[in-house]
Amino acid sequence: MSDIIIGIDLGTTNSCGAYVNEEGNVKLVPTPGGGTTIPSIFAIDDKGNELLGFEAKRQWLLNPTKTVYGAKRLMGRNPSGGFVSKMKEYFPYEINSSESGKVVISIGDREMNLVEISSCILNKVRTLAADHLGQPVTQAVVTVPAYFNDRQRQAVKEAGKMVNLEVTRVVNEPTAAAMAYGLRKDVNQTVAIYDLGGGTFDVSVIEIRGKVFEVKATGGDIFLGGIDWDNALIDYVLRDFETKNGVDLSKDPIAMQRIKDLAERTKVDLSSRTEAPFSIPFISMTPEGTPLDINLVISRQLYENLTQPLVDRTIEIAEMVVQDSGLTVQDLDAVLLVGGQTRWPAVQEAVQEFFGQEPSKGVHPDEAVAAGAAIYGHSLQSEATDEKMQLLDVIPMRIGIERADGTLQEIFERNAAVPNQKSMNFTTSYDNQAELAMRIYQGDAQTALKNEMLGEFEFSGIRQGPEGAVNVQVVFDCSVDGILTLSAHDADTGNEMTTTIKVASSEQ
Ligand SMILES: Nc1ncnc2c1ncn2[C@@H]1O[C@H](COP(=O)(O)OP(=O)(O)OP(=O)(O)O)[C@@H](O)[C@H]1O
Ligand SMILES: [Mg+2]
Repeated sequence: MSDIIIGIDLGTTNSCGAYVNEEGNVKLVPTPGGGTTIPSIFAIDDKGNELLGFEAKRQWLLNPTKTVYGAKRLMGRNPSGGFVSKMKEYFPYEINSSESGKVVISIGDREMNLVEISSCILNKVRTLAADHLGQPVTQAVVTVPAYFNDRQRQAVKEAGKMVNLEVTRVVNEPTAAAMAYGLRKDVNQTVAIYDLGGGTFDVSVIEIRGKVFEVKATGGDIFLGGIDWDNALIDYVLRDFETKNGVDLSKDPIAMQRIKDLAERTKVDLSSRTEAPFSIPFISMTPEGTPLDINLVISRQLYENLTQPLVDRTIEIAEMVVQDSGLTVQDLDAVLLVGGQTRWPAVQEAVQEFFGQEPSKGVHPDEAVAAGAAIYGHSLQSEATDEKMQLLDVIPMRIGIERADGTLQEIFERNAAVPNQKSMNFTTSYDNQAELAMRIYQGDAQTALKNEMLGEFEFSGIRQGPEGAVNVQVVFDCSVDGILTLSAHDADTGNEMTTTIKVASSEQ
């Protein structure tokens, strides 16, 4: 077998690998437990050994401060932002900021950044695939939430590099799911993908014409997923316990881990029954040393009430995406549900009501993303032109330059097609100006600073001349992965200028 490009779904909660075999069939990489996904969990045990996947999850109740889960949510985040401080309440492991102002996780005496943690997870999936296939694996198509920005996409590429895994393409998760759906069926349909996973939510409207996948619009929220369902129940349990016993359990990492663990299992239980016990003995003690227990019964109705705002938010986003696509729900041939949290009955009901049709059973909610990535990887390698898939994707948020007045001047609008190229002319604003600097942001806010900064670029070597006499043409190139690069040249002489990235756009 020649070198293979596998597909990897690097999920917030679970990760999954897939490949296309010699017969041309897509297969999931089997995992040690006999399933197809591994927990996206990294841990260090008491002896200092690194643990990944199931091994890490197995010990998370005992070792919460050295067990890292949900790390994808922290990728590309600003450590001093409100979001990170909120996450600190829920994650028992220690979240800090590095000297360069990036989020780092302290595990025992080690400090790890999020790229390193992601690289360990990618490596685990790659190793499982290589062992299963009996050949080395050096290339992968890796999926990311459609709503990931440039920085977060770069971080995934870097994570691959750290473990000698070339990330051939970064593909949007809903787009990959559509590829799994469209596989060899010669589908000519316009579909909506509603992807609600552990940490992120995405909706895309995609037109499938045989092997052409054209994304019409996409949108989402990278902080909306199953973890928020868990947190809603955790909050309820904590409040109830404090009211009854006057004890705040949120400061006790072991207690929090036990509550989190049971909250998730209760949620899964309640997706197929209407009531479930929530009992944890000896969760804490009174000052006098009397043991305290949690003894509750949670009904699905109560849980639905606690999480209705989350469901509503997904539908608001879906509404906006359908509108952005220029279509109406009546134009959609199918609605695909992807992601584990779409098993929650209230989610399915809301989707059915909004789209006016029953969701399709055409894709596997846990496997479609990895399968689609593998199919795309295979297509990139295949020599036969009739096997090549054509992907026309979009960027999820606009990209622009900061103006002197602090507002954002748009370069690429939201839902602009990728790959894409734009160029802009700038004239020198004083005599003998030698350098031109610009800050690039991504986001939909009108004020540049309210968006995510992708980088600060400086072009040097501008020809000497009086104010306004020299034209610099800057080319903004957005790759098919949704990653931006800049270059500049003298518009009159064509001379290339040196580009320096003063603030790296990728996360370290
Ligand atoms: N039966 C169920 N009912 C409700 N939620 C469920 C059920 N089964 C799984 N989940 C939830 O689905 C989530 C995991 O989904 P999935 O594996 O699709 O996420 P992921 O791919 O890791 O995350 P993301 O795509 O957001 O990065 C978890 O929050 C899990 O609790
Ligand atoms: Mg997912």
